[in-house]
Amino acid sequence: MAQNSENSTNQDNFQLTSGGDSSLDLPRLKGTIGPDVVDIRRLYSELGCFTYDPGFVATASCSSELTYIDGEQGILLHRGYPIQQLAANSTFTEVAYLLLNGELPNSSELSNFEGQLSNYSMIHDQLTRLFSGFRRDAHPMAIMVGVVGALSAFYHDSLDINDPQHRMVASYRLIAKMPTIAAMAYKYSIGQPFMYPRNALTYPENFLYMMFGVPTEEFEVSPVLAKAIDRIFILHADHEQNASTSTVRLAGSSGANPFACIAAGIACLWGPAHGGANEAVLAMLEEVGSVNHIPEFIDRAKDRDDPFRLMGFGHRVYKNYDPRAAVLRESAHAVLEELGVRDEPLLELAMELERIALEDEYFVERKLFPNVDFYSGIIFRAMGIPVSMFTVLFALARTVGWIAQWKEMIEDPDQRIGRPRQLYTGPVERNYVAMDQRS
Ligand code: SDX
Repeated sequence: MAQNSENSTNQDNFQLTSGGDSSLDLPRLKGTIGPDVVDIRRLYSELGCFTYDPGFVATASCSSELTYIDGEQGILLHRGYPIQQLAANSTFTEVAYLLLNGELPNSSELSNFEGQLSNYSMIHDQLTRLFSGFRRDAHPMAIMVGVVGALSAFYHDSLDINDPQHRMVASYRLIAKMPTIAAMAYKYSIGQPFMYPRNALTYPENFLYMMFGVPTEEFEVSPVLAKAIDRIFILHADHEQNASTSTVRLAGSSGANPFACIAAGIACLWGPAHGGANEAVLAMLEEVGSVNHIPEFIDRAKDRDDPFRLMGFGHRVYKNYDPRAAVLRESAHAVLEELGVRDEPLLELAMELERIALEDEYFVERKLFPNVDFYSGIIFRAMGIPVSMFTVLFALARTVGWIAQWKEMIEDPDQRIGRPRQLYTGPVERNYVAMDQRS
């Protein structure tokens, strides 16, 4: 938890003066690494004013021990472990355990955790009927929002957020069922029967089996694909207080059940400025079409009157290369090679687009670099994942981070219902005007 300097010997506070003679000492809170924060909890009661920070650019909404990002250096740590090391050496289920419990598991802890996930990987059979209420061409994210929210209608024995056992079971259920629901959304969209999970398969293998297996024949999961998708899941697991994680925390702060909170996170992630960007990158690359069209699109991205943005570029926090994008960029060639995809024109186009953008003053000045979404879609596509499923896979992986952040919030003694204020700019009080008095 954040150390309150009010209890420390060096009274290292911030002094806020409001122009007149009134001033206020605001405590400086220190974390283990990263920027200190100004504790403004007494600001309104003492000075009668709010802070103003649309988009929460400079606002810490909580203290957390899960993930640390240094945007200037391009650093990402999960419980202190660099993302590059986790991507190279760990597995998604091991990273899930780490985020949930704070330490890397030993072998028996990991196999017990993975066994639990296997046991929770099926969904209530009545839930399968929910899918038939959707059009076959529904966006799979629409199905994910609906079906994940509906889990709260079935698992009444894990809805009590104040019961640690309920919280743990709900966490396992969500992590375990997301691949099953995601694969079902895909199968539903192509009119194929649902595939049930198989406990003998690993987490990534099971997902690929449920996505691409059919009941009529055996399906051998490619170890190359399984390793590639597992690494991509690791890179998407958690990312501090991003928009969808903040949505999950805000929903959870009212006491809403975890299934409803994760459904809220899925809804927020869907936006093209957030998790929907991986799908939008593919659409953009296909629109660009060829290297000689790149300058035209770079100009459009720079034109304030043109809503076009370079999707997969820029980030609220990273003002350096997103370390996840760097891992994906490196592994893209390797994965495509292993998949036997010799020349992927979209990858060559993406790399040329990146090269040109990173030499352009507009992007350099604004420190706009590729983010996690810039390369992920190219790898997904090479793996045979349809574009409409890209953000679903992001949500599948981020469920680990969402539920770990939700659990941390529920267990945080400082947490209370989230309820921001505003700067009111509307009309002052006025009297009602009868219809016959109106112009
Ligand atoms: C994710 O927060 C997270 O951690 C998110 C995420 C996670 O793991 O959870 O990392 C996942 O959401 C990654 C981001 C995916 N989104 C995109 O790739 C969409 C394209 N990017 C932009 O929409 C934008 O960069 C954001 C939304 C990512 C960040 O927006 P900010 O922080 O509000 O920045 P901004 O819009 O204020 O931009 C600052 C300037 C502006 O120009 P000026 O007004 O200074 O002239 O940079 C420009 C913007 O116009 N700009 C871009 C741009 N991104 C920012 N110009 C062209 N193309 C872009 N992509």
